[in-house]
Amino acid sequence: MNRSAEWPDADRPGLLFGADYAPEQWNPDTWDEDVALMLEAGVNLVSVGVFSWASIETSPNVFSFDWLDKVLDLLLNNGISVALATATASPPPWLTHNHPEILPRQSDGSVLSPGGRQGFSVTHPTFLAYAKRLTAQIATRYRDHPAVVLWHLDNELGGHVPFDYSDASAAAFRAWLTRRYGTIEELNQAWMTSFWSQRYTCFDEILPPRLAPTYVNPTQQLDFSRYSSDAFLHYLRMLRDTVREIAPGIPVTTNFMATTRIKALDYFRWASEVDLVANDHYTIAACPERHIELAFSADLTRGIARGRPWLLMEHSTSAVNWQKRNVPKSCDEMLRNSLAHVARGADGLMFFQWRQSRGGAEKFHSAMLPQAGTDSSLWRAVKRLGAISRCLGVIAGSRVQARVAMVFSYEAWWASELDSHPAADFSYTERVMALYRCFWARGVTVDVVPADAPLGAYDLVVVPNLYLCSPEAADNLEDAARSGATLLVTYFSGVVDINDQFPAGPHPGLLRDLLGVEVEEFHPLREETVLTLHSDHFGRIEADFWAEKVTLRTATPVAHFDGDHPLSGGPAITVNSLGRGKVWYIATRLSAEATESVVTHLLIDASIECQQNRSPDLETVVRTRDDGASFTFIINHGTTPTRVEQSGQELISGSQLDGYLTVQPGQVAVVFRPASIHTQPLAIGRDL
Ligand code: GLA
Repeated sequence: MNRSAEWPDADRPGLLFGADYAPEQWNPDTWDEDVALMLEAGVNLVSVGVFSWASIETSPNVFSFDWLDKVLDLLLNNGISVALATATASPPPWLTHNHPEILPRQSDGSVLSPGGRQGFSVTHPTFLAYAKRLTAQIATRYRDHPAVVLWHLDNELGGHVPFDYSDASAAAFRAWLTRRYGTIEELNQAWMTSFWSQRYTCFDEILPPRLAPTYVNPTQQLDFSRYSSDAFLHYLRMLRDTVREIAPGIPVTTNFMATTRIKALDYFRWASEVDLVANDHYTIAACPERHIELAFSADLTRGIARGRPWLLMEHSTSAVNWQKRNVPKSCDEMLRNSLAHVARGADGLMFFQWRQSRGGAEKFHSAMLPQAGTDSSLWRAVKRLGAISRCLGVIAGSRVQARVAMVFSYEAWWASELDSHPAADFSYTERVMALYRCFWARGVTVDVVPADAPLGAYDLVVVPNLYLCSPEAADNLEDAARSGATLLVTYFSGVVDINDQFPAGPHPGLLRDLLGVEVEEFHPLREETVLTLHSDHFGRIEADFWAEKVTLRTATPVAHFDGDHPLSGGPAITVNSLGRGKVWYIATRLSAEATESVVTHLLIDASIECQQNRSPDLETVVRTRDDGASFTFIINHGTTPTRVEQSGQELISGSQLDGYLTVQPGQVAVVFRPASIHTQPLAIGRDL
C-alpha cells in the first residue's frame, strides 16, 4: 500500500484487512511466525503499539525503540503496512506513581486507580506534556519508515472515563465556559441560575456537576457533556498536530465508537479533525437484533464520515471478554458482521486483535489467530475472509446512496436523558432503533446524519425525539420540508433550546411552525397502560409509555387517542403541509406494528422502493461506483436458503447470474453490475 495523505488510496490492492498487533506481549521468536501467518491470512495492515507506552518509554524520558524498529522492519519486508499508534492509551506505572495527580476522579470525588488502562485525566497538563513528548518521540523515530501509512491517535478516546471530575478537569471546564460565554452574566442566563439561588459571581466558583444533594443544574450537566466531548477532541488535536508537524503526509485517524451504547462523544464534530474516519464495533451476544444494531452503527459511521468510505478499525472474530456471557460467534456470523460493515461503506476490516493474549484481562477475548492455533475453524474462517476481502478490493471508494435520512443528535441524546424529566426511563436511542429497525426490515438504506446536515437530497427525513433543537436545526428541517421532503418527527421534540430552556410560547418551541401543533402537556403513562389509537389511515393501533396533549394549529389529525384516558379524543398523530412537503408528528410511543405501518405508508407515499414482503432475515445494501457500476450485498441472517432476483456477477464465487441468486443460510453474496453491459466481467471470482 502506498503512503498518502489522500484517502482512499487508489493503489490499494484489496480492502484493508488486519488487526491490532501487540508484539510486545510476545517473545521476539514469535514475530516471524506472526508475520508468516499474517501473509497466509491476507493481512495487509496492522495497528501497532496501541498499549505499548511502558515498552517504549521504559522510565521517564528513556526510550527503547529497538524492538519496535525490528517489528516495523519485519512488517515492511513482508509488505504489511502499519497504523502506528501514539502509544498513549495506557500510562505506565512509573508515570502514575510519580504523578498521581494525573489520575481521573469520579463525580463522588473518588480517584480511579492505576492498574487498568486509560487511567489519566485528559486535561491534566502533566499528562498532556508526557503524552506529547511520547508522541513526538515516536513520530520523529518513524516519520520516514515506509511501513507507516497511518497514525492511530491514542485509542477509543473516552471509552472508559468519559467524564473526569478532578480539579484539573474543573479548571479546564471553567476555561471552556469562559470561552463559550465570555461573561459570567451570560452563563447565569444560559444556566438560569436565578433558580435555586445558583447565581455565580465569577467563573472561579464553578465546579463540574459533582455528586450533590439533589439534581444539579441541568444546563451545567449539559455543558459538562459538551465540555467533556471537547476535552477529548482537544487532546486528539494535540496528538494530531504533533504527528502532523513532525511527519506531514501520513494520514491520521483514531478509532471512534459510534454505536447506540457510546453516548459521551459527539463524533459528528470530530470527523473533520481526522483524515480517515475509523470505527470500532462489537455486537452484544445476548441481543437477538445485534445485526440490526451493527447496521445502524455502520450507517452512523458513514454519516459521521459525511458519506466517504471509512475503516472498521476493530470488531471481534468471536467472543469478547466484557459481556455477562461471552458467547462466541459462529464463523458465518463473523463473515456476515464483517461484510455488513463493508456493505455500509467500510473500505477495510480490522479486528481486535491479531493473536489471542496468553495473559492479562483480555486473554479470553477472541483474535484472528486463536489460542487453539491454526488447526481451528476460526483460523480457516479468518483466511477465507482475507481471501474475500482481496476479491472485494474493487469496491473500495464506492459510495452508499440513500433516499432516507435519520437525524441523530448527540446533544439531544444528552439533554433528553437528563434527570428531573417527565419520565426517568425515557431512552433516546430506543425510538432511534425502533424507527431504524422498520427501514432495515424493508431493505431501505438510511443515512444517519446530524441535524445540521444538508437534507435536500432526501425524500424522507426521520427525526426521533429531537428534544433539544437549535434554531439552525429547526431552519434546516423546515427548509427540507419546504423543498419537498416528508418529515417524520416523534414525541418530546423541540422541547428545549441549546441551553436546555423552553423557548417562549407553548411546546414544541422552535418546531411549532414545522409541526403545526402545540403541546399543552406531556403525559407519560403508567407502566401497565396501553393506549388505543383510532385512525382512518391505520385502523386501531396501540401505543404506550408516552402521550402528549396536542392542540392542532395548521396540522390535521391522522390518529386520535381512544378509550378511557384523559387524552381520549385528542390528536395522537398529525400531518402538517409545509411548502412542497409534509411533516408528520407522532405524539406517543407507537407499538412496533404501528410504527411499521406508519413507516411503510411514508415509504410508499414517497415512492421509495421497499421490500415489504421480503424475508425478515435478509439484509440488502447497494454500493455504487462513480462510473455507475454497483455492488449489491445480500446477507442472509436466517436458517433457510433465500432466492432473490439478481443479475450480474457474484464476486465471492465468481459466478455469472442468470437472473436469480440463492443465498445460503448464514452466507453473504456480493453482486457486481457494471455500468454498461459491454463491460467485461471482473476476473476476480474464485471459489472460496
Ligand atoms: C476496545 C479496545 C481494544 C480491546 C477491545 C475488546 O475496542 O479498543 O483495545 O480492549 O475493546 O473488545
